[in-house]
Amino acid sequence: MHSFHYQNGTLYCEGVDLEALADEHGTPLYVYSAATILDHYRRLSGAMSELDCLVCYATKANSNLAVLNLLAKEGAGFDIVSGGELFRVEKAGGDPGKCTFAGVGKTRAEIEAGLKKGIYSFNAESEAEVAFINGVAGQLGLVAPVALRVNPNVDAKTHKYISTGKSENKFGIDFAVIREAYARAATLPNVKLRGLQMHIGSQLTSVSPFVEAVEKVLPLVEELKSLYGIEFFSIGGGIGIVYQDSLASGGSDWWIDKDEKPLTIEEYAGRLVPLLQPLGLRIVLEPGRFMVGNAGVLLTEVLYEKRGTAKTFKIVDAAMNDLIRPALYEGHHEVAPLKEPVPGETEVVDIVGPVCESGDFFAQNREIPAVKTGDRLALLSAGAYGFVMASNYNSRPLPAEILVSGDRAMVVRKRQTFEDLIEGEDVPED
Ligand code: LLP
Repeated sequence: MHSFHYQNGTLYCEGVDLEALADEHGTPLYVYSAATILDHYRRLSGAMSELDCLVCYATKANSNLAVLNLLAKEGAGFDIVSGGELFRVEKAGGDPGKCTFAGVGKTRAEIEAGLKKGIYSFNAESEAEVAFINGVAGQLGLVAPVALRVNPNVDAKTHKYISTGKSENKFGIDFAVIREAYARAATLPNVKLRGLQMHIGSQLTSVSPFVEAVEKVLPLVEELKSLYGIEFFSIGGGIGIVYQDSLASGGSDWWIDKDEKPLTIEEYAGRLVPLLQPLGLRIVLEPGRFMVGNAGVLLTEVLYEKRGTAKTFKIVDAAMNDLIRPALYEGHHEVAPLKEPVPGETEVVDIVGPVCESGDFFAQNREIPAVKTGDRLALLSAGAYGFVMASNYNSRPLPAEILVSGDRAMVVRKRQTFEDLIEGEDVPED
């Protein structure tokens, strides 16, 4: 579900008119729907309810405190990848006891923080890391809860930059040597083997790679349970979303190409729950994109139009520094004008930002409804890996973030000012 729809001729997020919001707060502007995030969390937990399931939201997808707080109040856990994310989760009221700490390069400071806060598990990605965690825990007189991340060598069939479960990826410990790694970890005095983790990639649009990976790893999980008494099996995140056709149905999105097939939660749970249930273990999920992707849009205004011999460019005030997915992964984001378009009036255009790079585009050769200078557009499905990957490149202040709930719109992060841009910088005296 998502809560973006046309009403009275303009695009709304839940009960809030996005034109009015852009008038008040300016553009570029990130807007998130609380109802959508909650719906996704509840649907996923509901679908897994036959299992002892802990949903650890992948904080990296959108770590705004207000988003984390929504999920913390629902009882979600959090999958974190840095000391900074642990700090955010705590500030947002999240329970460190429900946090899994992932990532290939945890530092001493991060491990110490995780241990002192009592996180649920370190998901360790190499034997060197397990040994290091053991040492740090020993120095603090603590025992570290650890799961090893297995790399099952399964093709997730997704973009190469977000595929993580093949042997050539840097993630996890090879399936071929994981048993030995457990055996050695079991001898470490300051490590308690709590689980097994895997994550094969992100934006998976078919359930088969998940099924393949789970089926491959199940005998290993059974073995580890009986040998070391592990308590949980994390199957990671990765549930893909639909980037095309991202407006609520109702005919308003007539220009959108509806080729993409969604991976539904019903299909995901329907295939995986029966495989996982017999294990009798806690199942951990680490969804990021599924929870917040379609819950967010990036609003931008058309600044100029440039008609070249080869192309028509619509130059907008958002840029790759605000939303880098098209530049980095050729990510597709639907473009919806805030004013409801007139059926039939379309144009094939490139939508580009002001940054001095040819990679600074949001759409290329795309048929969109006709728009002119001063019109505003929503870049859809920008709730995951949008603001969190934004930068100050070209000295552009970060956009504001708004959380909508019903007919309330709350500024959950102020737009940066020029002063914010130089915060902490100094010119040395001569
Ligand atoms: N667990 C682990 C260990 C991960 O590395 C990730 C994502 C997740 C869970 C959550 O995956 P999700 O459910 O969101 O697919 N910036 C890229 C995506 C990078 C994903 C990194 N890891 C993008 O914009 O597509």
